[in-house]
Amino acid sequence: MSLTVLIVDDEENARQNLGELLATKSYDVIGVGTLGDAREHLLKGDADIVLLDIQLPDGYGPNLLYETSNMPSRPPIIVITGFGDIETAVDAMKNGAHDFLTKPVDFAQLDLSLQRASEVVKMRRELEHYREAQAQKVDFVIGESPRMKEVISHALKAADAQVSVLITGETGTGKDILAQYIHANGPRANKPFIAINCAAIQNTMLESELFGYEAGAFTSAERRKPGLMEVADGGILFLDEISSMSLDIQAKLLRAIESQSFRRVGGTNLIKVDVQILAASNRDLPKMIRENQFREDLFYRLNIVDLNLAPLRERKEDIPELVGFFIRTTNARKGMNVTGVTPLAMQALQQYDWPGNIRELSNAIERAIIFCDGERIDLPDLPRDVSIQMA
Ligand SMILES: Nc1ncnc2c1ncn2[C@@H]1O[C@H](COP(=O)(O)OP(=O)(O)OP(=O)(O)O)[C@@H](O)[C@H]1O
Ligand SMILES: [Mg+2]
Repeated sequence: MSLTVLIVDDEENARQNLGELLATKSYDVIGVGTLGDAREHLLKGDADIVLLDIQLPDGYGPNLLYETSNMPSRPPIIVITGFGDIETAVDAMKNGAHDFLTKPVDFAQLDLSLQRASEVVKMRRELEHYREAQAQKVDFVIGESPRMKEVISHALKAADAQVSVLITGETGTGKDILAQYIHANGPRANKPFIAINCAAIQNTMLESELFGYEAGAFTSAERRKPGLMEVADGGILFLDEISSMSLDIQAKLLRAIESQSFRRVGGTNLIKVDVQILAASNRDLPKMIRENQFREDLFYRLNIVDLNLAPLRERKEDIPELVGFFIRTTNARKGMNVTGVTPLAMQALQQYDWPGNIRELSNAIERAIIFCDGERIDLPDLPRDVSIQMA
């Protein structure tokens, strides 16, 4: 990683000499002669480290320290003071300068000071990177089953390509969390993820939720409201339970997706957006198409990539990893210390059919941890439906 040093000095010669020296130490260098230019580069975020002279044609160098004291990650600033000008040096350090050097600059000292500043910058970057990685983490257990591995590999490709995805699967198989996983692992991770459950909203309201409305569009529309399509601009709109959408709104949605534009209810302006659509359904959409309850054209538009989550009973090899995951997260949440599952209990967990899929498994483990007296979850701690198989 090469760092950029901004040299702020009005003497062309001094800039030249320092610049050449820094280049041999493989820093990138920007040289400016005024405080104004320095300020501009700082605000643009061009500089990783600043070498700042005191007397500049348009002002007193250390003013830059006061001005930028609130910048969230201000680069380290090394102030170069005149020989014997202790007062300025002390003042600069008090105001957050990284270091000070006196003229004429001793190159060995400069090198050392820059090295220390570089360490600060690198550590800061590392922390930022870590924070971002943390923020984007979605706890998603992939498991061992080939079907799940394939789903994840396709999901990552769809995330990269930013195309529409249709996620299908029985209730509790993880459709919601897969949508979040796609968001967290694609180029839109830092953009909005807006989810709307189409089954939870009346179809009469759904249109204005999606597209927004202008003031006066209907009696209760007192002021303009942007739709979720707009809120999701640049990011992802997740249409959960898409099968609940009426044919009329399906048609409007299709038009909006295809043109990446729409009008608010009661509005005339065409609003342009860039939205990636993810949709989920636990119903048989091809069957609904045959029964004229779902539009075939919309289906194909959403189904650019189809991700089908297998029911848990068809991928029982994933159960141990999921159980481990739910024990870990429940322990953390409830301040418990359960260490595992007895062999008999694990056998019961793997034999059961899990009609409620991963959601049911997660609830069963949480309940078992509450009931568990020993270190490990045992057969009697499990829900009756699960434990009775071993009787
Ligand atoms: N692969 C997984 N790793 C970890 N947790 C999971 C996984 N899949 C599902 N879960 C958990 O199981 C529960 C149900 O998942 P989710 O809500 O995503 O299912 P769904 O398919 O959307 O269900 P529904 O059809 O009822 O809406 C959630 O608590 C979720 O966190
Ligand atoms: Mg869901």
